[in-house]
Amino acid sequence: MAEVLIVRDEEEAGALAAEAIVNLIRSKPDAVLGLATGSTPLTTYGALARRIHDEGIDVRRVRGFALDEYVGLSAGHPESYRSVIAREVVGPLSLTPEHVRVPSGDPATIRTAGSDYEAAIDAAGGVDLQILGIGRTGHIGFNEPGSSLASLTRVKTLTESTRRDNARFFESACDVPMHCITQGIGTILRARHLMLLAFGHAKADAVAAAVEGAVSTSSPGSAIQLHPHATVIIDEAAASKLEFIAYYRHAWSNKPEWQGI
Ligand code: GLP
Repeated sequence: MAEVLIVRDEEEAGALAAEAIVNLIRSKPDAVLGLATGSTPLTTYGALARRIHDEGIDVRRVRGFALDEYVGLSAGHPESYRSVIAREVVGPLSLTPEHVRVPSGDPATIRTAGSDYEAAIDAAGGVDLQILGIGRTGHIGFNEPGSSLASLTRVKTLTESTRRDNARFFESACDVPMHCITQGIGTILRARHLMLLAFGHAKADAVAAAVEGAVSTSSPGSAIQLHPHATVIIDEAAASKLEFIAYYRHAWSNKPEWQGI
């Protein structure tokens, strides 16, 4: 099962996630990070940026692969995930821009973009630590309900619910692209450590389905139950529909210190 850590707030979650990433980078200076976009990982990136700068951690060799991208946004569109990753991750963390890749949503090359991306991840030796958010539909990356648990990077059609959720980043809901390219669930499961974060009541159903529901394509997040090293870091509100909450707290407060997360 996933290890479930219930924290006070997003800041505490970010500090915990950053600690795991710092430990990884210290032991493997060319670590490969799987990078999520959205609001959820922002405190993680913030805490990580502070640690990198305050402690002078050398991240020049760290590599990164974003989870997903919209198809068809113009190059340099501020809400393309390429721009978001540059603005919210590469810049603040002082990563080497050439070491961080985002799937290409360019319609001209979209037919081969998925297999190219898979090949690049393989060539990098795979992802060491994958940061994940979860959508209200239960999606991870942009793998909407129904996505094959064995899927690799490919084009998907967004649900209308996800388009509405992401409309806040665009001028209007109609501007949210209809299609995306996303790492598949099979791609995500190959990462060596999964770290899923979620905050707020709106995520409580998706979190309960992912952590305690049946493993099913209907709740793509439930695929984390198939992974040997998955960590779920959530606040009280996102944890509010979990059944075994007392056990998660018990396990966390009795966790051997040497284990880390
Ligand atoms: C977005 C992204 C996902 C993200 C999720 C949740 O659409 N493609 O990678 O995890 O939806 O977003 P947020 O963190 O903003 O709630």
